[in-house]
Amino acid sequence: MRLPTGAELWPIAIFTVIFLILVDLMHRRQRWTTRYPPGPMPWPVLGNLLHIDFQNMPAGFQKLRSRYGDLFSLQLASESVVVLNGLMALREALLKHSEDTADRPPLHFNDQLGFGPRSQGIVLARYGPAWRQQRRFSVSTMRHFGLGKKSLEQWVTEEARCLCAAFADHTGRPFSPNTLLDKAVCNVIASLLYACRFEYDDPHFIRLLGLLKETLKEEAGFLPMFLNVFPMLLRIPGLVGKVFPGKRAFVTMLDKLLTEHKTTWDPTQPPRDLTDAFLAEVEKAKGNPESSFNDENLRTVVGDLFSAGMVTTSTTLSWALLLMILHPDVQRRVQQEIDEVIGQVQCPEMADQARMPYTNAVIHEVQRFADILPLGVPHKTSRDIELQGFLIPKGTTLITNLSSALKDETVWERPLCFHPEHFLDAQGHFVKHEAFMPFSAGRRSCLGEPLARMELFLFFTCLLQRFSISVPDGQLQPSDHGVFGALTTPCPYQLCALPR
Ligand code: HEM
Ligand SMILES: *[C@@H]1O[C@H](CO)[C@@H](O)[C@H](O)[C@H]1NC(C)=O
Repeated sequence: MRLPTGAELWPIAIFTVIFLILVDLMHRRQRWTTRYPPGPMPWPVLGNLLHIDFQNMPAGFQKLRSRYGDLFSLQLASESVVVLNGLMALREALLKHSEDTADRPPLHFNDQLGFGPRSQGIVLARYGPAWRQQRRFSVSTMRHFGLGKKSLEQWVTEEARCLCAAFADHTGRPFSPNTLLDKAVCNVIASLLYACRFEYDDPHFIRLLGLLKETLKEEAGFLPMFLNVFPMLLRIPGLVGKVFPGKRAFVTMLDKLLTEHKTTWDPTQPPRDLTDAFLAEVEKAKGNPESSFNDENLRTVVGDLFSAGMVTTSTTLSWALLLMILHPDVQRRVQQEIDEVIGQVQCPEMADQARMPYTNAVIHEVQRFADILPLGVPHKTSRDIELQGFLIPKGTTLITNLSSALKDETVWERPLCFHPEHFLDAQGHFVKHEAFMPFSAGRRSCLGEPLARMELFLFFTCLLQRFSISVPDGQLQPSDHGVFGALTTPCPYQLCALPR
């Protein structure tokens, strides 16, 4: 065979370029419909990838919102994205069109980290029977351990005692509470998943926490996003292992914990924890290839519950303590309510919450103000939908700006301030708000919400019952405004916990 000469290559090159441009235009043809939300002009192939500040997404998006309005579009290579702002648009998308917006955009690199189509877990599972099965399973298992026997509450109370003891060890000396909060919250998930807790100085535990945090870090940022919109790059041998070493190690660690757990599993006994209940389902599903109950999926589900349930809750608690330092008057009123309703001796219980409107309002306001997942988790349309008069085609990624509801100026009296009165009426009763959606809404809303609420209430009240939280004189020069990032964490700080 004769190779083509230079002159013959030209037509081929020109043809290829025209072909690529046509494919690119096809991806973007929806922008030509007049009812597609406006947005910055995408470049060929890359789209708007270079218009986004991946280090500070919320701030970068703010500019686009002020330019293009509450609903605007972006093109990430071949992926169409629409950002939703405002309570009305969010409610319309998540509640009215709840079924048509319940899909998730795929995360391609997960396939190569051992999360195949039969083991999609929950958080990132495509909308369909496997997701439904696992969501139901987790919700009902949590209910079984949480309400049926009240044991989940006992686990949290027990953990709150350990957390208080660890705080007490630091008496008088300033320390950063974050690692301890991570450990306490991680132990609650461990008790749900494995019916065990780890000692705070256990090296395995410290490693597990380290890997969990590293995994979350690895998945944020430009490179993972870039690999996800150009998935063919993932075929480069060894690349995935290089980019996600933490996630690899995390998966290995989960496998080891599971193997250990299996050695003590007795199928004839009632399940001790979620893993036992899952293993029983795996047995039942043997021979059914459709079932999502298999060992690989157990690993994904467990990994999902760790990663969705850990940092979210501990970050919120860290915000809660920081805000009590910044607002000592609020802290004193919470303590006063604790003293009146629970006293100084009894451990707080969930049943106390109904009689503690001020504390309840403070916790809600912490979540509203902290706004820890400003952009929630992306959704995807599985059908064409109409939203606020715009037409959004099937297969579009939706970014839900939860922050736009939590800080909506038309709803909240002082949206950018920490103001517990947002959740209290004139008589001091607790009031709910539709715009309070830190857990999102609709079919995909946070399934851990009841557990998260229990942890926030019990950890927060136990700590404030025993300690007064403050900072060493003049060491914190805080502002009343949150710091934005992908997950909004408070600025690093140290506190003093003085026994009351
Ligand atoms: C303060 C704590 C928490 C906050 C603020 C929070 C917030 C959220 C948000 C915003 C979503 C995305 C919802 C959507 O896609 O529209 C979510 C999903 C999820 N959360 Fe939470 N979460 C918290 C704690 C927890 C806990 C403790 C668990 C589990 C034990 C958990 C498990 C999940 C799961 C499994 C999903 C995925 C649901 C699905 O895709 O169907 N979360 N959470
Ligand atoms: C989300 O809403 C907040 C508050 O209204 C706003 O500051 C931010 O720019 C919005 N982000 C996006 C991506 O639209």
